[in-house]
Amino acid sequence: MTSIDPPLAMLAEVTHRCPLQCPYCSNPLQLLTASQEMDTETWKSIFSQAAEMGVLQIHFSGGEPTVRQDLEKLVAHCEGLDLYCNLITSGVLLNKDRLIRLAAAGLQHVQLSFQAAQADNADRISAYPNSLEKKIEIGRLVGEIGLPLTVNAVMHRQNLDDLEALIDLSVELGAQRLEVAHVQYYGWGLRNRAALIPTRAQLDRSTNIVEAARERLKGRLVIDYVVPDYYARRPKSCMGGWARQFVNVTPNGKVLPCHAAEDLPGLTFDSLRDRTLADIWQKSAALNHFRGIDWMPEPCQSCDRRELDWGGCRCQAFALTGDAAVTDPVCELSPHHDQVKQIAKKESGESPPEFLYRRIGGAN
Ligand code: SF4
Ligand code: FES
Repeated sequence: MTSIDPPLAMLAEVTHRCPLQCPYCSNPLQLLTASQEMDTETWKSIFSQAAEMGVLQIHFSGGEPTVRQDLEKLVAHCEGLDLYCNLITSGVLLNKDRLIRLAAAGLQHVQLSFQAAQADNADRISAYPNSLEKKIEIGRLVGEIGLPLTVNAVMHRQNLDDLEALIDLSVELGAQRLEVAHVQYYGWGLRNRAALIPTRAQLDRSTNIVEAARERLKGRLVIDYVVPDYYARRPKSCMGGWARQFVNVTPNGKVLPCHAAEDLPGLTFDSLRDRTLADIWQKSAALNHFRGIDWMPEPCQSCDRRELDWGGCRCQAFALTGDAAVTDPVCELSPHHDQVKQIAKKESGESPPEFLYRRIGGAN
């Protein structure tokens, strides 16, 4: 067997607990409870295994990773292993003391999410009171204590009018980077797709706003821009290819190629409670299933983009066709592409339904 390069980065989903209930959360519909989470020592051993394999970065995520009172210990452990530590957070549970403790433990970067730039809309989307005010306070503190800041703005039809204000806010907070990411339709986002999908006109307007801001803010703010898949002509290279560059570890120790893969039928993802990370990464049947290009059907198999986008996203192929092994229907060359265009047109043209909020048991 040819040897498989280690992942560059691990997304460590240390918990599914979160005080917010965003209707586009990337967590699965069946959320894990606190009692199912791995303890401090188990996580430490996983990070040691990751460093040993050659992983370079740990992205602490959730849920909301700061609900874990041992987060400083986990960060300190990673720092001792020379792993780059990034915190992906909603910020609402942080305060100055905690941020200082995390920075002292070795945290190197903070990604802070914003739901909207209007307070009432931010509260409505997150189902959490006074979230905007709190996030602005935390964004300022991150800069004050000298940590680099990325603002994550997840955009959809119910907050796109705030895009310019979110760009201004990122500048005001001294963020180095802004991620303007349209919602991806898996898990909770798929359940709420009709409430979230923008119209073509909204998308075009947001693209123009981003392009103008990139020009205006050159050298001050880097803006990453992720368009909604359903309006794209070619798929994104999801996770840089299945089990190639990134590994996801769930709160209870499952090793996944992406946050949504557990919803795919017929694949059994191995647990770090039973096997080592290196063993799973190299030999897991589920990770090897869509790795590389051998699994690809036509038109991907003979396409010159097959090692650029890796056939797109398996979870999206499943969500749209019921078959994870077909070309991502976002691709214009897919026989299912028209279906995607029709969904986007129909759902964005109707009045949005109520949000189905992310909560334990909330999807039932
Ligand atoms: Fe990518 Fe496959 Fe479409 Fe080619 S046919 S662009 S490899 S999804
Ligand atoms: Fe699972 Fe794209 S989200 S492969």
